[in-house]
Amino acid sequence: MSKYPKSISRICCIGAGYVGGPTMAVIAKNCPNIIVNVVDVDVERIMGWNSSDLKKLPIFEPGLDKVIQDTRGKNLFFSTEISREIELSDLIFLCVNTPTKNRGVGAGKAIDLKWVEICAREIAKFSKGHTIVVEKSTVAVRTADVLENILNANSQKNSFSVLSNPEFLSEGSAIEDLQNPDRVLIGGVDEKAMDLLKEIYANWVNEDKILKTNIWSSELSKLTSNAFLAQRISSINSISALCEKTGADIDEVSKSIGADNRLGEDFLKAGPGFGGSCFQKDILNLVYLCEFFNLPEVSKYWENVLTINNWQKNRISKLIVEKLFGTLNGKKIAILGFSFKANTNDTRESAAIRICLNLLEEGASLFIHDPKVQKNQIENEFKNQQMQNNSFEIKSSWQYSENINDAIQDANAVLILTEWEEYRSIDWKDKEEIMSSPAWIFDTRSVTEEKNLSKTKLNFWRLGNINTANN
Ligand code: NAD
Ligand code: UDX
Repeated sequence: MSKYPKSISRICCIGAGYVGGPTMAVIAKNCPNIIVNVVDVDVERIMGWNSSDLKKLPIFEPGLDKVIQDTRGKNLFFSTEISREIELSDLIFLCVNTPTKNRGVGAGKAIDLKWVEICAREIAKFSKGHTIVVEKSTVAVRTADVLENILNANSQKNSFSVLSNPEFLSEGSAIEDLQNPDRVLIGGVDEKAMDLLKEIYANWVNEDKILKTNIWSSELSKLTSNAFLAQRISSINSISALCEKTGADIDEVSKSIGADNRLGEDFLKAGPGFGGSCFQKDILNLVYLCEFFNLPEVSKYWENVLTINNWQKNRISKLIVEKLFGTLNGKKIAILGFSFKANTNDTRESAAIRICLNLLEEGASLFIHDPKVQKNQIENEFKNQQMQNNSFEIKSSWQYSENINDAIQDANAVLILTEWEEYRSIDWKDKEEIMSSPAWIFDTRSVTEEKNLSKTKLNFWRLGNINTANN
């Protein structure tokens, strides 16, 4: 009798985070005959996923609430019953976090596989028969080897097929990306297991978009894809500084170069520096791998993408100090947007963290507004940064503002850091009256509309533009 099931009927996903939750919800929606169980050690997170109030889901993603409403309790379940679900499932997705190592060999660069390893040991302990184990977490190249070693060394009776199936969703458009992916990548050596995984996706993804590769290509494609995207952002951000010196306009330059079909228009929007949980950690991992395999020129090349990203954040904060007469002591600055991009409540590696800390260090008093980010999340981000950098202490205060007007009232400056839709339509004529004078608007996302500014006396600076109004 074949060790493989005819088709997959029960899936377990370990990790109910930004990837595990939405991805499994979309699988459940498109595969009503498959039971999908998402498990996590984080009890509070699981309670959030099970909340009857869909506004309390642990993750904000447009359209996610509807998919959860349609599937939860039917063929999608969230629980902390990890061992039970491992035992009952034919196929297990690993969607756990893979952050940068913070100590030991490769600290600061290599990916920490601790959580992946723990899962492998749990799977070896509790699985029954043959289990397909799928790496969906982003990992270092050759992690599948590590997984196979751990699985086989810890389980004599059972067998495993390890596949790589990296996730390419972007936060803020996760449901749309999962429903209509550009491609689904399946890496492996076990053809039968690859076909079983392919069958799941084929329920809604066109077969020509499901690519099969060798397992190492699949693992490396994920890191490379993120590195290429981030590289485009650092490239355009570097040019934004040159625009400010020369009188060229970064939005016009982006549009012009993006019109070339060979380049394409995406990922050419200049901003305060890329954030998010993936780009920095995945490039650091790529840099580490290149160093490990003795390719110093290649590692330096990719490291520079991060150097420019950090430089962009720091140059924005320095510029603000200069424009506000060289000191921020006692000055109120309204921060509009703290998430790393619009349409998500995720703040991991958000450019706002470094920029705000720089301004606080200069003595500014910050009033931070974000439509989806909670106060305690901002607090945690500041604390984490301070822990990573012991020498730095916040010398002045910050407050959380529930609405835009509270943040802006009496402010000497407004700094727009996230491109939330509601910031585009702000009528600055109204706001001018409640701000201090002279006051500045610093727009790092190019969301401010000229028509809403032209009748004001506000000083205005837009990233990548030397000629901004009243400057
Ligand atoms: P996350 O931190 O939001 O979620 C990971 C979850 O795994 C957490 O809830 C954690 O409690 C849980 N977990 C950790 N160890 C566990 C264990 N032993 N047993 C059960 N649960 C455990 O992370 P994420 O953003 O969902 O990312 C997950 C992976 O996907 C990472 O490798 C990341 O690089 C990759 N990825 C993320 C994105 C993204 O946009 N966030 C996109 C593509 C790929
Ligand atoms: C990224 C990848 O896009 C996705 O494929 C992968 O699976 C996970 O990492 P994500 O981090 O969610 O997704 O968001 P993304 O849209 O890539 O934005 C990342 C950062 O780059 C954000 O801070 C965003 O504001 C910034 N960005 C993006 C720009 O500054 N300019 C752009 O043109 C695009």
